Amino acid sequence: MPMTAQDLAVLIQSRAGNDPVRLGLVLGSGLGHLAEEVKGTAIDYADLSGFPHAGVSGHNPKLVIGELEGVRVAVFGGRAHYYERGRGDAMRLPLEVLRELGAEAVILTNAAGSMRSDIPPGDLMLLSDHINFSGLNPLIGEPSDARFVPMTDAHDPALRASLQAAAKAEGLPLKEGVYAWYSGPSFETPAEIRAIRTLGADAVGMSTVPEVILARFLGLRVAAVSTITNMAAGMSDEKISHEHTKAMAPVGAAKLERILRRFLSDF
Ligand code: HPA
Repeated sequence: MPMTAQDLAVLIQSRAGNDPVRLGLVLGSGLGHLAEEVKGTAIDYADLSGFPHAGVSGHNPKLVIGELEGVRVAVFGGRAHYYERGRGDAMRLPLEVLRELGAEAVILTNAAGSMRSDIPPGDLMLLSDHINFSGLNPLIGEPSDARFVPMTDAHDPALRASLQAAAKAEGLPLKEGVYAWYSGPSFETPAEIRAIRTLGADAVGMSTVPEVILARFLGLRVAAVSTITNMAAGMSDEKISHEHTKAMAPVGAAKLERILRRFLSDF
């Protein structure tokens, strides 16, 4: 019998304690450092039946429950992507568990390519909205009427305002923009980038959008931040690679960590 989110929450609480978690953080490629900063209990995804394998290098598949800036958080050190196993709902169980643990909100992070010259590599971009350019949806097959999730203001305005206030307090500019999801794992062609740029996207990546949809389905408030690791295909002479993503992500991650700490201290 597969374990339910309730079973997993009980298992996690038996190791990490029963105090409710207030916020979830999902860490993207090269952003794992934050998980090490949390004082608490780390549990390998491998010990949590049904959790994804999250086998992408640059991810650390552990769930860490503990305190960061006085807030009880659940940090997901790795995410599963659609491109790994063809499952758009790979993060559904972890997000269900997060809700069972008591969280009301989740902050998603990712590494992304930029289509805006004013948001260069090393900068952060707060997602104001997204375009699901993959055409896939993690709720396909969900039988309940709850599948018809409204996606207006999916990127929670109040959470975004708090993140903006935290960034301002840290003296770090935080531009906002629209993120487009291509499934990957191949990077995009320059023509694909021109297409989504024309359609109003500012950054591109291979994750996050299914998690935003799932979080809204589960009633979690959600905000997402990209660390820009490269200019998108065709926008600069630089070669795009996963190695480059992993090398560049920590530049933005250091800024993101400051913003998140300030955000948590006021949460
Ligand atoms: N495209 C898609 N995903 C990415 C990129 C990109 O240019 N950079 C980091 N993740």
